[in-house]
Amino acid sequence: MNSVYFDHNATTQIDSRVLDAMLPWMRTQSGNPSSRHQFGRAAREAVAQARAQVAAACGAQANQVVFTSSGTEANNLAIKGIAGYQAAGQILYSAVEHPCVSRSAVAMQAHGYQALSIPVDSQGKVDATQLAALLKQPTSLVSVMLANNETGVLQDVAGLANLVRAQGRIMHTDAVQALGKIVLNFNELNVHAMTVSSHKIHGPQGAAALILDKRLDIQPLINGGGQERGLRSGTENVAAIVGFGLACELASQDLAHYQSHTLSLRTQLEAGLNAMNAVIFGSQAARLPNTSFFAIDGIEGETLVMALDRKGYAVASGSACSSDSTEPSAVLLAMGVEEDLARGAIRVSLGTQNTVQQVAAFLQHLQQEINRLKQLSAMAA
Ligand SMILES: Cc1ncc(COP(=O)(O)O)c(C=O)c1O
Repeated sequence: MNSVYFDHNATTQIDSRVLDAMLPWMRTQSGNPSSRHQFGRAAREAVAQARAQVAAACGAQANQVVFTSSGTEANNLAIKGIAGYQAAGQILYSAVEHPCVSRSAVAMQAHGYQALSIPVDSQGKVDATQLAALLKQPTSLVSVMLANNETGVLQDVAGLANLVRAQGRIMHTDAVQALGKIVLNFNELNVHAMTVSSHKIHGPQGAAALILDKRLDIQPLINGGGQERGLRSGTENVAAIVGFGLACELASQDLAHYQSHTLSLRTQLEAGLNAMNAVIFGSQAARLPNTSFFAIDGIEGETLVMALDRKGYAVASGSACSSDSTEPSAVLLAMGVEEDLARGAIRVSLGTQNTVQQVAAFLQHLQQEINRLKQLSAMAA
């Protein structure tokens, strides 16, 4: 059977060079970076090297990088840690944020903050006028993602950050889906904080980072021995951090090839989807090159995902993090998509290992499955 992975926005296979770099830190190099002896010093140097590699991929300085265990943790640290330092006001986040941002903002309501989502248009783009209007009220923090995990739609984060800064407010961006897929530059984005994660770029799961403006006051979520400048205590996951660092370097080297390869496959895919009258969400907006989120009227997304899985294709019916729920995608509802059509959504997220042949065969299988499901529902009617 085919076994084709089309779910790179959920996670990616670890690069063998990354795994090789990590293995010594799990086998023989067992130092704690806080220890003074040679083992500790070696681990500390390895973490420092990874910090420089992550910073370089983000257009930041090494001393701006705070390592965490996941993008989820980094986003929690950003929302709770930054807002927690500000007087309790609004926490504004786009209506298409990942739940680790929106739910962190909502959790802060218990501490007197007000969580408010900023509407998006039919293409999933944040409405700058609405943000400007919302900013008139006292605001503790604004968080707008750079690239959406479901649609791939890119936000004008630098432009929005200008609005936020003009009001003297603080801006965070979740760049988890952007790292390794588009050029990423912390300074040009003009934000105060930015989240990135390792396992989306062929690095290991269990490492991520919050990139911070050094002048920003922020309180930790985890207190302890004072690692990561006191912002994230706990002995570092040295192997995963080493892997994350190398994955960043490799992704930066491969960026031009990644973009042209995935974009040409997506163009091929979407030509076939258009011929099937699929609705491609966010297709009028600038998007990540590798992502296509679409629906075929009258076909249930979850059923199609399972049918394609039986044919050997791994695709998603929305965000993997909420795949146990049958609710339609909140991202699509925020874009004003009808509930029935939203229930049909499936996401293909491509990677450099994917090929023209895989996309062509996928389109054939997709057409067959659509025909079969339509026949079944006609018989049931
Ligand atoms: C946009 C976005 N933010 C945050 C996360 C969470 O990152 P992690 O899986 O490292 O916790 C994800 C993961 O899917 C994501 O797509």
